[in-house]
Amino acid sequence: MTQLLDLTSAAPDLEALATREGRIAVLLPGPEGLGPMARRLDRLTRGALRRLAGSEAFAKLKPGEAMELAFPAGLAAEAVQAVRLPRRADTASQRKAGATIARGHGAAPLLVLLETVPGAGDLALGLLARAYDFSVRKSAEPKVPGPATLWSADPEALAQPLALARARAEALFLTRDLVNEPANILTTTEFASRLLELRNLGVEVEVLEEDQLGQLGMGALLGVGQGSDSPTKLVVMQWKGQAGDQPPVALVGKGVCFDTGGISLKSPGGMEEMTMDMGGAAVVAGVIRLLAARRSAAHVVGLVGLVENMPSGRAQRPGDVVTTMKGDTVEVINTDAEGRLVLADVLWYAQQRFAPSAVIDLATLTGAIIVALGTENAGVFSNDDALADTFLKAARAEGEGAWRMPLGAGYDEKLKSRIADMMNVGGRDGGAIIAAQFLQRFIAEGRPWLHLDIAGVTLAKADTVLAPKGATGWGVLALDRLIRDLAEARPDSTPAPRAARRPAARPDPAAGA
Ligand code: BES
Ligand code: MN
Ligand code: ZN
Repeated sequence: MTQLLDLTSAAPDLEALATREGRIAVLLPGPEGLGPMARRLDRLTRGALRRLAGSEAFAKLKPGEAMELAFPAGLAAEAVQAVRLPRRADTASQRKAGATIARGHGAAPLLVLLETVPGAGDLALGLLARAYDFSVRKSAEPKVPGPATLWSADPEALAQPLALARARAEALFLTRDLVNEPANILTTTEFASRLLELRNLGVEVEVLEEDQLGQLGMGALLGVGQGSDSPTKLVVMQWKGQAGDQPPVALVGKGVCFDTGGISLKSPGGMEEMTMDMGGAAVVAGVIRLLAARRSAAHVVGLVGLVENMPSGRAQRPGDVVTTMKGDTVEVINTDAEGRLVLADVLWYAQQRFAPSAVIDLATLTGAIIVALGTENAGVFSNDDALADTFLKAARAEGEGAWRMPLGAGYDEKLKSRIADMMNVGGRDGGAIIAAQFLQRFIAEGRPWLHLDIAGVTLAKADTVLAPKGATGWGVLALDRLIRDLAEARPDSTPAPRAARRPAARPDPAAGA
């Protein structure tokens, strides 16, 4: 896995500031209210820092943005990066400040003058997450960033927020690495073996192979992988926190290691991006890793269907009819609508085996969600308003864009088949909603369910605040927070999962099957 930046905290040593080499980042609310470390830096630079902080340009910076003093007189350091950060800045600004520092950071050692502790965990997360660089597939020696040190008057108080920031960043890195890996390397077998490594953190991991999937009757999942030389697999990850005897929350991920479209072959332009079609499974892996790393009290199971969608002499054809584990038959009109076939069987299996208090699936499911929402927001579909609202709140708190989409019987009707129980496509209009309707047919009556169509947010074409161009890790932080909100004991409440405590909401009768 891509390594985290070496980040530690230490008590300030102001006497050593002048001779400190490398880069120094300092957080300034403005020309007033400089902390003791910033004041010392200002004195050493003979007032340059305060002049910078009082400048018009500095006043125009948004929270978390920075200006630089290069080769400042009075310091051995090669640069001072002055980051504008108002007092009591919000989470997003703290993370942005950390990310700004990461963008300036290179091979030289970095010193961050933190002054106070509140928000330091978010700043550290921004720094760690933005320092990500996927370079394992380059032959050149990786550019190792220099070590980073956070100076704080109370380094002890930083230990816990720093550990949490590291756990979060490592989860993001796992997800991003999986998404960034090409499909000749990240085969279904390689994916499964990377998931088995989660055992080292105390996660129970099982790999179900094709013969077992056949015995379980997973004709939809197996049909997708039929044309590939990579064996189809279902990986089950269980994290049993203190609430291990409670019904779990189930996270289900689409893990299409490469999606050519199958016999309904995609056009070549941009097909290489379909290495990211296992993004849902990668987020599930990241969330499970994070829950384990921070020893979450919750009981969460992660299930991912790992498969490759290829055309070949053995591949499934348009018009084939497959039988799902649930027993419903599906006429495969378009072999490129494969994600829903994968999820149908994995969703059903998850509910049959674990009777979860809530089911949450993630999938790079449709191009149509990109048409609808672009790359700013994932599509959120749910049969349970409380669950959807809790998720939307969690996503907002983590800065991960998410937007609720409708369900309804009218959309569901489009799936009617002449010869089978349903078709796997229902026309172009409202394609993301019709795909969600298909999934809902594999959700038991009354089971709280959330479907996240992440096709637009999984891979970024340009740098984002917390990630360079490429895999974003969208969803890891929001889902971790959702689990905390749903299923972790808080001092004022019982540990019972919230979704189970409430009587399960009946799906809207207008919402189709
Ligand atoms: N993996 C794709 C969806 C996708 C598209 C993800 C673009 C990321 C970026 C999915 O399997 C797919 O091919 N969906 C089809 C469905 C259609 C055939 C009903 C699509 O969206 O075109
Ligand atoms: Mn497809
Ligand atoms: Zn796909």
